[in-house]
Amino acid sequence: MTVCEAPGKVYLFGEHAVVYGEPAVPAAIERRATVSVEPRDDDHVRVEAEDLSLDGFTVEYSGGTGDRPDVDVPTPLVEAAMGYVDAAVEQARDAADAPDAGFDIAVESDIPLGAGLGSSAAVVVAGIDAATRALGEPLDRRELAERAYRAEYEVQDGQASRADTFCSATGGAVRVEGDDCEPIEAPNLPLVVGFDGGAGDTGELVAGVGALREEYGFAADAVESIGDLVRTGEALLADAAPGEEPPAALLAELGELMDFNHGLLSALGVSARSLDAMVWAARDAGAHGAKLTGAGGGGCIVALDASDATETALSFTQGCEEAFRAELATEGVRVVE
Ligand code: MEV
Repeated sequence: MTVCEAPGKVYLFGEHAVVYGEPAVPAAIERRATVSVEPRDDDHVRVEAEDLSLDGFTVEYSGGTGDRPDVDVPTPLVEAAMGYVDAAVEQARDAADAPDAGFDIAVESDIPLGAGLGSSAAVVVAGIDAATRALGEPLDRRELAERAYRAEYEVQDGQASRADTFCSATGGAVRVEGDDCEPIEAPNLPLVVGFDGGAGDTGELVAGVGALREEYGFAADAVESIGDLVRTGEALLADAAPGEEPPAALLAELGELMDFNHGLLSALGVSARSLDAMVWAARDAGAHGAKLTGAGGGGCIVALDASDATETALSFTQGCEEAFRAELATEGVRVVE
């Protein structure tokens, strides 16, 4: 049995604008998806996913992606997660040149599904890593990130940036611009996440921003402004002492940029009442700044705050289902067993 776990992420800055070639800075957080893989003697794939739904489920099928029978998968979100497992299996088979390899796979995750924390990327990265290792063909991190990106790209019909998968593979903070992804140094940022229990439709939200951008020059300007604030934010991160507690002045500046980023995302139509409520609750509780993270429409916000006040305030905010402190994950995907 080979077991790998990969982290989720938050966007410090830059989601949506990254789709149009602007830079973005995601950072991995200590919430992980764990995928266990045991090669089989036949070409079947058996997937067990206790933690992806309340009831859990098991499905067994043979052949490749698309051959999975119409089984009773509990919710559309879990069905979507299964698509990522299928795509990870295909990438691992291809990488190991083992088109008929079969696997018993177990997936567990403490990353909310589809909520802007990179849950699918974490499952894909951990899945490909575990499956290729189980076949005796481990991949280096860049190839792993590339294959995980291809898996997401395929499942999301071409609407995927490299941000989530690269960040999940390498850990730490990452700068993404177009096809270029590079790990960057970052201080130990005190982050708190608020989750509204829901999820936005990434495809629809990305298309919505695209339509606004086509229609209005000022929407295109908003996308470019996000790029400008990302460049300002990354310069601030680069000047800070890596891995150290950031000084108050830096937190204030980064927080201001996060607030600005949320405002521009909101103008581009990708926030939601629950996300705005959590952002304001965090700010009122003393957070240096707060913004939605990921595609928006529902899901998570990320706030910059070292005190417990933000977490507590979020947990009492109407529409917030869960609030938690999110430690930065300096290590990306790793082998557990
Ligand atoms: C979704 O997590 C982030 C978006 O920028 C889309 C992408 O980068 O693939 C909205």
